[in-house]
Amino acid sequence: MFLTTLLWFLSVQENKAQEDNMSKYVNLSLDNYTSCDQFVANTTFDPKSVIDIDWKIFYFWTPNFEESYNIKFSLASEVLVDRFRVELDSEIKPPVNWNDSILFMETSIDFSALLLKTNVSGIVRLIPSLAFEYPGVPLLLFGLKIVKPGYLGFLSCKYKLCYALAPVDKMPDHESLTEEAQKLGFWSDFGRTHTQIIPPLPTLPPEPYNKDDDDEDESMDMLHDYVLL
Ligand SMILES: *[C@@H]1O[C@H](CO)[C@@H](O)[C@H](O)[C@H]1NC(C)=O
Ligand SMILES: *[C@@H]1O[C@H](CO)[C@@H](O)[C@H](O)[C@H]1NC(C)=O
Ligand SMILES: *[C@@H]1O[C@H](CO)[C@@H](O)[C@H](O)[C@H]1NC(C)=O
Ligand SMILES: *[C@@H]1O[C@H](CO)[C@@H](O)[C@H](O)[C@H]1NC(C)=O
Ligand SMILES: *[C@@H]1O[C@H](CO)[C@@H](O)[C@H](O)[C@H]1NC(C)=O
Ligand SMILES: *[C@@H]1O[C@H](CO)[C@@H](O)[C@H](O)[C@H]1NC(C)=O
Repeated sequence: MFLTTLLWFLSVQENKAQEDNMSKYVNLSLDNYTSCDQFVANTTFDPKSVIDIDWKIFYFWTPNFEESYNIKFSLASEVLVDRFRVELDSEIKPPVNWNDSILFMETSIDFSALLLKTNVSGIVRLIPSLAFEYPGVPLLLFGLKIVKPGYLGFLSCKYKLCYALAPVDKMPDHESLTEEAQKLGFWSDFGRTHTQIIPPLPTLPPEPYNKDDDDEDESMDMLHDYVLL
């Protein structure tokens, strides 16, 4: 998801005009979606509460189809922070106080990032490892919070794309994914449309479509079409 989102961020940056066109076309009003400030209001984020857990996304509030991924956090080690600092300190804007580094996140899709705290508890600045290749990466702020019974919410502050995660061994039942996701207190136009696709397995034809890679792509396309309908 983050990879998709990141590449989307970058392309949006390059073509702001297209973004404007798109939002006019669908009349999206990001303004009335839950903001990061609202999302983390009255919460205190403790980095230690998310580490060493295999988190898995169970609900999305995003306009694009995304597959579920796993995410794992660890405390940001000095060695790791130094690597980011040495590589990026003179390049990245706005300037970074590396002392604010709190967490390192890794995903099952080979996307990783350093997270730095801001002056608001629960709002973090995300510096993707992709920045080593694209130092012009924009400022990325995300809201993070834990809600009962132990779900993690991850919200992109600018685009208001939100993800609900649970520990892999404590995933909500398929029937209650939407209901459980509401516990994060996030609202946007998109959440509703994504429950149908999680998990998508029952709608996929079984054996013949998994013979080789081409066929797999095809079945993904079919799934995609199905979702858009
Ligand atoms: C935005 O929409 C206008 C009118 O539909 C079109 O002429 C223009 O090319 C679009 N711009 C972009 C960047 O897509
Ligand atoms: C967007 O809003 C304008 C005016 O408010 C309306 O004319 C138009 O039909 C709307 N477009 C869509 C796709 O809903
Ligand atoms: C946001 O706007 C949509 C329609 O434009 C409306 O249906 C919805 O109730 C609004 N949500 C909030 C939280 O104000
Ligand atoms: C946060 O707490 C304050 C004081 O208890 C309350 O007035 C406010 O409504 C709360 N905000 C949210 C978003 O829950
Ligand atoms: C970061 O921490 C180091 C060591 O504690 C200190 O020397 C340095 O001034 C701090 N930098 C900033 C920008 O706060
Ligand atoms: C946090 O910093 C931002 C900009 O750096 C500032 O606009 C905001 O008022 C600050 N918030 C608090 C609670 O200090």
